[in-house]
Amino acid sequence: MIDRRALEAGSQPPLLYPPYKSTVKRAPAQPLVIVPERFAALAAPVYGYLPIGETDNDLTRQHAGEPQGERIIVAGRVVDEDGRPVRHTLVELWQCNAAGRYRHARDNHPAPVDPHFTGAGRTITDAEGRYRFVTIKPGAYPWGNHDNAWRPAHIHFSLFGPSLATRLVTQMYFPSDPLCAYDPMFQSVRDPRAQQRLVSAFDLSLTEPNWALGYRFDIVLRGRASTPFEGRV
Ligand SMILES: [Fe+2]
Repeated sequence: MIDRRALEAGSQPPLLYPPYKSTVKRAPAQPLVIVPERFAALAAPVYGYLPIGETDNDLTRQHAGEPQGERIIVAGRVVDEDGRPVRHTLVELWQCNAAGRYRHARDNHPAPVDPHFTGAGRTITDAEGRYRFVTIKPGAYPWGNHDNAWRPAHIHFSLFGPSLATRLVTQMYFPSDPLCAYDPMFQSVRDPRAQQRLVSAFDLSLTEPNWALGYRFDIVLRGRASTPFEGRV
C-alpha cells in the first residue's frame, strides 16, 4: 500500500490536472470501486506468464534489420524507499521510434513507421535490482492536447511488483530537453525536485565505445524520494 503521508505535496502527478486534457475524462468522478481481495493477491499478471525472450531487452534486435535512429543503452536500479534492491521484478517499457511515431493504429502523425522497430521491451531485475535495455532514442511527437503541443522524448516504464495491484507506471525523459517546460504531463508533477527524478542522466560508464551512449534511470518505488508515478495519488 502507498503511504500517502510519506509523499510530499507536488511530488506526484494529480489524477486531475486540467492542462493535461485527458485527465479531465480519466480522473474518477465517482467513488472508487473496491477491488476484490482475490485480485490484489494475484501473484502474477493475469495475462499469464511468458518467459523473458533473448531479445526482449534489446529493441534493436527484434526484427530482421536494425531500426533507424540513435542507438542508446538505458539502465538503472529499482529500489525501495530505503535503497534496497527490488529483485527479480518485471520491468516493461514502450516508446515511439526515432521519428516520433508509435506502431499503433491510433498514431497517424505524418512521420515514418520503422519496419524494424516495435517499441516494446521487458526484462527482469537482477539480484541487485538492476535492469538494462538497448533501444533507439525516441523522437518528440505532436499530440492534440492543446495548440502546437509536443511531447518531449520519453520512454514509458511499467514496474510490476509482486502482484497486479502493485503495478506502477511512469515515464523517463532525457536531460536538457527544452520541451519538458511546455509539457503538461511533465509539469503535472509540480515539485521541481520530483520532476528531476523523471529525467535520466547521461552516464559515460554505461556507454559502449563505438556502439551506443548510455542513460541511467534509477527508479524508487516508495517514500520521499519516490519516482513520480501515474495515477497513484
Ligand atoms: Fe508516449
